[in-house]
Amino acid sequence: MTSAWVEPPDWVRAHAPAKINLSLRAGSPRSDGYHPLVTVFQAVSLFEEVTATADDDVRVTVSGEQADRVPTDESNLAVRAARLLARRAGITDGVHLHLSKAVPVAGGMAGGSADAAATLVAVDELWGTGASRDDLLDLARELGADVPFALVGHTAVGTGRGDVLTPAMVRGEFHWVLALSDHGLSTPAVFGALDRLRDGAHVEPNPEADVAVMQALRSGDPHQLGEALHNDLEPAALHLAPRLAAVQAAARDAGALGVVVSGSGPTVAALARSESHAKIVATTLTLAGVADRLLVATGPAPGARLLP
Ligand code: C5P
Repeated sequence: MTSAWVEPPDWVRAHAPAKINLSLRAGSPRSDGYHPLVTVFQAVSLFEEVTATADDDVRVTVSGEQADRVPTDESNLAVRAARLLARRAGITDGVHLHLSKAVPVAGGMAGGSADAAATLVAVDELWGTGASRDDLLDLARELGADVPFALVGHTAVGTGRGDVLTPAMVRGEFHWVLALSDHGLSTPAVFGALDRLRDGAHVEPNPEADVAVMQALRSGDPHQLGEALHNDLEPAALHLAPRLAAVQAAARDAGALGVVVSGSGPTVAALARSESHAKIVATTLTLAGVADRLLVATGPAPGARLLP
């Protein structure tokens, strides 16, 4: 007799990408404290990897870049993701999550959100909960404003808190140089600084979509995209971390087509003409000694998925 029963796996691995914001426009804060956004996300080829192994309780360990800066208690977003799915699916099993970090911590690239997105995909498979993509998106939204995009990946326009996503049309690939800082910036602190800097100035309550960025993405022309990059949070991030101005100036001097602080910073993203140009810009910035670490990455990259 044949049986349809499939033994559940003992462990699974998943990864999810970092993001940069090609454009970010923020309105005045809503009653819940969140700022209405219109942002264009691009996922880049820098991945957080999560290994989920059956265990008695939910626990997390961390390795890789800046692992010592990641909390391993209940505040960890991956732990919260596993607990949320367990609660919704009526699962009483535990899981050991091992996070292998490649994305800077508190860097404005949504590394913690990528951990959460990869965890949702991994524990759904490990526990055989059979959640649909829409179910996972709903859970992602509860976990944080950037978690849905880490699940979806590629390039998308985010509205609401940045969590309501519409895919964007993109031709070809873009090559990025990422200048990292060892001292992270807190997202709420940067939004708070934005409000203080704007003090009383009129702000559109609901910002408009960024037409120039969307056209540049459709054309696939990095020169156009370089000119269109924009981030309303940039003055606030520069206010809290003034040395980022030198990183931006050095990236422009090194021939970047456009330079922008990613999300709430402090990562600075510089757009290059090609893969080889990105390596040249990164080397030039390393020699200039303006950033703590330089990486190159390509976008768009796919969203959270299981690894073989
Ligand atoms: O949702 P997430 O936990 O990533 O957001 C962290 C904080 O960033 C929020 O509590 C809020 O202070 C700020 N934020 C905001 N407007 C957004 C997204 C985040 O003010 N659209």
